Amino acid sequence: MDRIRIVGGHRLNGTIPISGAKNAALPLMIASLLTEGTLTLENLPRLADVSQLARILANHGVDYTIEGKRSGDSDTQGQTVHLAARQIVDTTAPYDLVSKMRASFWVLAPLVARMGEAKVSLPGGCAIGTRPVDLLLMAMKDLGAEIEIEGGYAIARAKNGLKGGDINFPKVTVGGTHTALMGASLAHGTTVIHNAAREPEIVDLAECLMKMGAKIKGAGTKTIEIEGVARLNGARHAVLPDRIETGTYAMAVAMTGGDVLLQGARADLLQAALDVIEQTGAKCVQTNDGVRVTRNGGPIQPVDVTTEPYPGFPTDLQAQLMALVTRANGTSRITETIFENRFMHVSELARFGAQIRLDGDTAIIEGVEKLKGAPVMATDLRASVSLVIAALAAEGETTVNRVYHLDRGFEALEKKLGACGAEVERISAG
Ligand code: EPZ
Repeated sequence: MDRIRIVGGHRLNGTIPISGAKNAALPLMIASLLTEGTLTLENLPRLADVSQLARILANHGVDYTIEGKRSGDSDTQGQTVHLAARQIVDTTAPYDLVSKMRASFWVLAPLVARMGEAKVSLPGGCAIGTRPVDLLLMAMKDLGAEIEIEGGYAIARAKNGLKGGDINFPKVTVGGTHTALMGASLAHGTTVIHNAAREPEIVDLAECLMKMGAKIKGAGTKTIEIEGVARLNGARHAVLPDRIETGTYAMAVAMTGGDVLLQGARADLLQAALDVIEQTGAKCVQTNDGVRVTRNGGPIQPVDVTTEPYPGFPTDLQAQLMALVTRANGTSRITETIFENRFMHVSELARFGAQIRLDGDTAIIEGVEKLKGAPVMATDLRASVSLVIAALAAEGETTVNRVYHLDRGFEALEKKLGACGAEVERISAG
């Protein structure tokens, strides 16, 4: 298994290109199941989750072609990929594939919408919480599907097609909203989604679906209205920049000090997080080329932050923020409200000398002057990168084990950080 070795204490200076968003890329790829036409996605990140989803979609009959490099292209530029589901050859998504990536459960909606049936394995356990799919199944029922759970599978049927209806989410759910959008786009009649998720990735999916011919109003607000159409077509769409990758590198700069341009990043996609980063003492400015983050001396200031659905502070940046304030000049409080078990990084951060106490869903972090490098272990994607942030500012050497978690969601992390002066290398298992 690969490891990452980091020697801390270097400021970050330079440019980091921001990749296409993983959490937009995945539902966009899944949307290819809705049409016989070709869906072309630009700016797709090179990530293990993207390759894994391509394998899952191939099992349903999706041809996946990556365009070759063009003259003038750089290595960090996103890929252009063509997805074509001319014929759905299999409506079952088996356990061995779905258990590797939860988001693949989302194939349920487009398969039922197009084929009238689907059998998709329930995703099973997860390192950050129980993560049920009851609300996704509720949305499918509201669209007229009959649902049965059998042998660890959700079996959904709508022989005469899905029907528009009212979907009232009791809790904001990104996956539930993606499911409802994809199902309702090909349903008979009109659907209204109440208490919809407002994440930028929802808007990106809706915009792509509209290019494919869907009739959607209100994406990005709490109420989305969809008028179903009989068929959707191919389209071309560019994946939006990754706001979580942006926030992660912004926090890395806030931690080490320095001056970095996050090329291609959009501040409007993560304003709440940038406001918190500024409270810690860094500056984040939108320029024509991206977001420029600087911190020149001065202590890291403590913060009091609660994770919330968009537009609030994202749970996917909670671990990284915790790493940053381990070195704050005072006591910080971070409350996690989205997932019940998303504090696995706490005990790993303690290995650097961080002082963190848990009180229910709140972490109380007493800032320390120095962190010291240590061997640590990644537990999930965002937790892993929080260890990288701690390591960049720690004295001495850190090795982060189980790097496959990082590869799921951070493209070329060691190259991007290395180009800005960090001492970081991947040690291959050989
Ligand atoms: C998406 O997960 C993201 N994944 C997550 O990113 C992200 O943390 C999360 O949204 C919240 O922003 C992708 O986009 C691929 P939810 P999702 O449904 O859709 C509860 C990462 O690191 N819930 O919005 O699965 C759920 O347990 C990942 O990139 C139900 O109770 O999240 C949670 O408490 C991790 N029943 C809350 O809703 C359901 O049926 C929000 O979850 C569904 C969800």
